[in-house]
Amino acid sequence: MTDATKKTLAAAHRAAIDGIVMLENKNGALPLRRGERIAVFGRSQIDYNAGGTGSGGSVNTEYQTDILSSLEKSDVEVNRTLAQFYRDWVSKNPVSTGGGMWASRPLSQKEPQIDNYLMKKVLAESETAIVVIGRSAGEEQDSVNAPGGFLLTEAETELLKTARGRFKKLIVLLNVPSVIDMSFVGEIGPDAVLYIWQGGQEGGAAAAEVLCGASPSGRLTDTIALSYADYPSSEGFDAKDKIYYNEDIFVGYRYFETFCPENVLYPFGFGLSYTDFELACRAAVFADQKISLTVDVKNIGGATGREIVQVYAEPPKSNMPRQKRSLVEFAKTKTLAPGETQTLRIKFPLSRLKYYDDKNSEWRIDGGEYRLIIAKNVRDKSCSVRLRLSKDIIKKCDRLAAPKELFKRLIGFDGGPIYEDAPTAQSGKSGGTGGKAKRKAFSGIARSRKYKFEDVKNGRISLDEFVSAISEKDLARLCRGEGMGSKLVRPGTGAAFGGVSKGLRKLGIPCAAATDGPSGLRLDNGDKAALLPIGTMLACTWDVELIEEVYSCIGGEMIENDIDLLLGPGFNIHRNPLCGRNFEYYSEDPYISGAAAAAALRGLESRGVCGTLKHIAANNREEGRKGLDTVLSERALREIYLRPLEYALELSNPKAIMTAYNGINGEMCGSNFELISGIIRGEFGFSGMVMTDWWASLGSCSAPSRRNSAAMLRAGGDIYMVAKSAEKNSGGDNTLKELKSANLSADELRRAAKNILSLIINVVISD
Ligand code: BGC
Repeated sequence: MTDATKKTLAAAHRAAIDGIVMLENKNGALPLRRGERIAVFGRSQIDYNAGGTGSGGSVNTEYQTDILSSLEKSDVEVNRTLAQFYRDWVSKNPVSTGGGMWASRPLSQKEPQIDNYLMKKVLAESETAIVVIGRSAGEEQDSVNAPGGFLLTEAETELLKTARGRFKKLIVLLNVPSVIDMSFVGEIGPDAVLYIWQGGQEGGAAAAEVLCGASPSGRLTDTIALSYADYPSSEGFDAKDKIYYNEDIFVGYRYFETFCPENVLYPFGFGLSYTDFELACRAAVFADQKISLTVDVKNIGGATGREIVQVYAEPPKSNMPRQKRSLVEFAKTKTLAPGETQTLRIKFPLSRLKYYDDKNSEWRIDGGEYRLIIAKNVRDKSCSVRLRLSKDIIKKCDRLAAPKELFKRLIGFDGGPIYEDAPTAQSGKSGGTGGKAKRKAFSGIARSRKYKFEDVKNGRISLDEFVSAISEKDLARLCRGEGMGSKLVRPGTGAAFGGVSKGLRKLGIPCAAATDGPSGLRLDNGDKAALLPIGTMLACTWDVELIEEVYSCIGGEMIENDIDLLLGPGFNIHRNPLCGRNFEYYSEDPYISGAAAAAALRGLESRGVCGTLKHIAANNREEGRKGLDTVLSERALREIYLRPLEYALELSNPKAIMTAYNGINGEMCGSNFELISGIIRGEFGFSGMVMTDWWASLGSCSAPSRRNSAAMLRAGGDIYMVAKSAEKNSGGDNTLKELKSANLSADELRRAAKNILSLIINVVISD
């Protein structure tokens, strides 16, 4: 194993400990005592689910830690009879992959029957039962609200009941990719319950360490409701070609805390520790459009541990429906010894309080009184301060990417949900300049063929001059990525881009390599790398410094492997607990999603390589994703689904984004002009490279096509991913055809070329 991979695994190990979320711990059931006699049930103790399937997992690793052997190395006494039984059984009943590609792996695996004789013997030898529940998830497959998916199977429930009835202590470990139904806690009453998630290569070892004393410091980044039906997106989640986001901005805790707190089992931000903390806000200052809080965190319990200070804002009444409170900032302490206090200085801009009024096309911060709650979770009210704003702050915008059809959106509750028609692209008045986003012209400059790409870097000529000298044919090639496994770059990667033709290479343009992804380097030629904890678990650490460190280590592995661009992090919103790719993503909340993604990017950039923020936007379901039309209000789009990108732009320097497979309000994301040129480039000021997802369909949702690269270019996108041969246009894209028929201008191609080359100058030429 290389040194770079070793370093990543050391950081990943810490994240796999700090991302574990403990939800129950009755009578100090945990940590386990030295010598405690434990019996471990569930095949996932050996067949540990380390990560998701698909592009967000699939990292080849040199080893995998598991829970059973990690516990055997600790100072508790693991029941050998049961351990041997499971080892024999799993060796005869290997994990089923479903026989096909990614999506064929079952969501859960067969479990053995524990007969009475074995149970009695184990019971006579041990006092504590640990039951590990495992689930799988991945690309192209959503979970289901059924046993083995979101719900426990009958066999799992039976096992939990038996263990509860017979053992003194019952501890449940959830080795899962995203939240599952937790009604079993009330029904069965385990002493301790922990989301150990899918913790990557080091996850099995990390889970054992937490059981044996390392204090869990993870907190939920999603709300856990009483049942699946309580999630506002559950109705219509399986709609066929069009999905309506009727809950509007009321996603996750924004919905539950505002309208039905009684439907929550575990609130957003919740998690227990082996110790306890007291928060006290010492000072609050508002100056220069920034809010500064000084918070003392004291460990008032008997063990060491870390606490997370979460700051929520409660807005004043306004004309638009608002969520009760929302997360505006957070900070995590170092490890505090009993009795120790740490003072945290938390500073954030006023803009965290803004919301979007899509009736008047404006971002607003209403004047009035705000309450800032300094808390341990969204429900806690450890302390609060008041903030008075004397006047409204308004920023006008254009109406962009709005729905084209009438549909209902949630605005309140009065015995039942109250809806209104969401404003459409045609309705009401539009604010801002009233003008539509413009197709950005390229400032063409005299051609000069004698220069090489290096001359741009050396400052001899401008990038504009250089791009002007590239032939149209080569420009079209430059706007195609080549993959997967292109021979132009190191084997096993997702894409090569840049110098993908002889002509381009002659100009001195190197080929850059991009590969997945959020969970570590995915190298399809079998080369090995470190597998990280899933994105959700990383976010559950609420530790942006640690996330930054983990990705800086990934940057080290990228350098070692000649990879310039990572296809990650993924930061789509957890709209529904069944989405198959939730594991790659961080949270139901836009701020923690954006903050975690920014941390990952900063880590990569600290090593001179780059990441790709994906998937823009609203990739919230896998089923039918490649043609799915997502109908949502402009408000929900900006306030929930694009807000993580805005935060990432505030907190880091993103250089590449990947558009999503789905469409938004009638137009596929990769060719959505109002989305890309209007909001992302026009309003957010993003000037980096915009790529499509792999073999994405483009054009209108009613007639999507993989060949419509011209639609992507017209929309402000830069590079179509991917073609088997970029040089030969093996995918048959229509760039040159549309250029010929003047439906696309050469300047649009040059603009795209410039964005691609700017990235290459940064990550390849500067090596
Ligand atoms: C996924 C992307 C990934 C790409 C390349 C697609 O199927 O949606 O997230 O980066 O493949 O592997």
